[in-house]
This record gives sequence, structure tokens and C-alpha cells, in this order.
Amino acid sequence: MDNKITLAISKGRILKDTIPLLEHMGMAPLEDLDKTRKLLIDTQNPNVRVVVIRATDVPTYVQYGAADLGIAGKDTLMESRGEGLYELLDLGICKCKLMVAGKPELAHAGNRLKIATKYVRSAKQYFAQQGKQVEIIKLYGSMELAPITGLADLIVDLVDTGNTLRANGLQPLEHIADISSRLIANKASLKVRFDTLQGIVEQFQDAVANS
Ligand code: PRP
Repeated sequence: MDNKITLAISKGRILKDTIPLLEHMGMAPLEDLDKTRKLLIDTQNPNVRVVVIRATDVPTYVQYGAADLGIAGKDTLMESRGEGLYELLDLGICKCKLMVAGKPELAHAGNRLKIATKYVRSAKQYFAQQGKQVEIIKLYGSMELAPITGLADLIVDLVDTGNTLRANGLQPLEHIADISSRLIANKASLKVRFDTLQGIVEQFQDAVANS
């Protein structure tokens, strides 16, 4: 491996909203990310390259130092057990809320509520804090389907416009956390490459403030 800084970015919405920041920083990827099959992509900054990977893999790459920096949602970071990860900056993109949602009449159904979610750790923690005994059912997407089909009483999911909930006859019920994308680094990279990484963090700060 050469000595370039590697930035890992979550695929999907986060990538879409990160591109304008990278363009502002003169760090735009040199390939069309919608078309290329390449996984390690050079940028306008010859010292920086990006990898575009699944959201849940970003903390892992950064934790093990395979990427120096990462961009991931707070929701993903709350689920990750990644040790030695630092949140350097709130990028203020992909803002939404992690919420309990469902049909209000089912919010107090039975003794032990069934909660469908991909946010198992956050959901467990939230309901434990509420002193509620719940059964967590792990899903990987389309959580809104669970209360409609009877798989679960409630869901824990991200809510942005609320359109997906409304379209499925569900309502946001309880707020768990405000979510946005964060720039992360691992402790070791920060120590070894502090000046370089600090420079990039400052560029991100400027991009967040001005783009
Ligand atoms: C997210 C989330 C909700 C939806 C919320 O899903 O899980 O389903 O967006 O957005 P809204 O409040 O604006 O309707 P996403 O589209 O990311 O897909 P996923 O279900 O695969 O996570």
C-alpha cells in the first residue's frame, strides 16, 4: 500500500450528500461512482483516495486502520462496537431521527412488546432505559412492513419526512436520537498522521460551513 490517505464513505444517500463537500474541498472522486466497478478510487487530491462501501462496514475499515477516515451515519455508529473510533466532525448531512414508530394503539399492547428493527443495539438500550421488557426482531430493511403484517408491534427506524410511515398507516411515536453523518477516524491513524488528517478535517469544516 502507498502512503495515501484513505477515506471510507457509506454508499447511498450519505455518498450522494458527501460529493458536494468533496467537490468544495477539491477532493472529488476521479471516476463516476455510479458507473465504475473500481473499489479504490483516486480523487482530485493526489494524496487522498476514497472507498465506497456498505454503511455498516465503514466503522470496521476505520477501526482496523484500513481506512484513515470514514463517513458514516450516527445510527450506524451507535450500532457499531468499533473500539478506538473518534467522531471528529458532525457533517450536518443526511439529518433524520431514530424513532419508535407504529400504530399508537399497539404501543402498549401486551406485556412484552415485539420490536422490529435493524438497530438492535440502540433499541435494546432505549427500551432498557424505559424499564420496558421487549423482544427485538432483527430485520435488514423495510421495517414498516412488520407492524402491518403482525410480525411486530412497533418498529425502531429512521424517520426523515415521515412519508414512508404515513404511506403505511404508521406514526412516529417516540424520539430516540437525532441522526446525521459524522467524520470518524481511528486513534492510531490520528496519532501517526495527525497533521495530514487535521488538514483534511479543517477542509471538511470549511466545506460544511460554506457549501
Ligand atoms: C429509510 C428508513 C425509512 C425511510 C424514512 O429507509 O428506513 O424507511 O428511509 O424516510 P422518510 O421518513 O423520508 O419516508 P431507506 O430508504 O434508507 O431504506 P432501508 O429501508 O433499506 O433502510
